Amino acid sequence: MAFIETIDYGTPASTSEAEVALTIDGRPVTVPAGTTVMRAAAMAGSSIPKLCATDSLQPFGSCRLCLVEIEGRAGTPASCTTPVAPGMAVRTQTPRLAKLRKGVMELYISDHPLDCLTCPANGDCELEDMAGAVGLREVRYGYEGENHLSAEADASNPYFTVDPAKCIVCSRCVRACDETQGTLALTIARRGFDSVVSASQASPGCQPLAPNSWASISAGGRNWVSRTLILARTDKTPRSDAMIASAGEE
Ligand code: SF4
Ligand code: FES
Repeated sequence: MAFIETIDYGTPASTSEAEVALTIDGRPVTVPAGTTVMRAAAMAGSSIPKLCATDSLQPFGSCRLCLVEIEGRAGTPASCTTPVAPGMAVRTQTPRLAKLRKGVMELYISDHPLDCLTCPANGDCELEDMAGAVGLREVRYGYEGENHLSAEADASNPYFTVDPAKCIVCSRCVRACDETQGTLALTIARRGFDSVVSASQASPGCQPLAPNSWASISAGGRNWVSRTLILARTDKTPRSDAMIASAGEE
């Protein structure tokens, strides 16, 4: 069974009836007011690298890969959290952006197992795709620094393996659990370098609504599960109707 690939516009559609005209990489585009620059770019055919954004979730702005240049504005704002404005002129591909994005990806990859060839997500991995998209060929920082590579994987769920060594803490799974499922079964525990995705019951002060948090993820995660980095399906064989029913999927 092949995965069905759909266009991911990065952020949800705006429902506004007002329209905003702008240019993206010199191409005119008109979008509903409230649309993000990332989504407008996707609608205009410009692909902006992203890791933490997906169009089924509200923008979060954590990965810093989707930076763009906007004429007349200082800096390089994240396109996923920047709304369009009338007359805005956005550039999504410049030498400065390429350098910044490559630097961001180098940092991610410097703390990531180099096991792509044996990883179950190989070929269906956004980190791999984005490394390719920014043209990453080497990691100047090396792999010897402090890292999470020895974090232990959890294979207790029959449908996926949770491998914290591969997590970039983009919070997408946590947000999907909240915004899509409404279960709040996941959370980010600890802070800074020690941040880790955790079942909510493991986080002091956060009570789970589901008795088995990882099971609730397999029950409800559809598209976003296949897109995440560490929640790699244990295998890619088609699941039978019975398996799907037992997981609670529609
Ligand atoms: S498990 Fe995946 S989706 Fe969740 S924070 Fe880590 S990388 Fe992001
Ligand atoms: S996609 Fe915009 S900050 Fe991650």
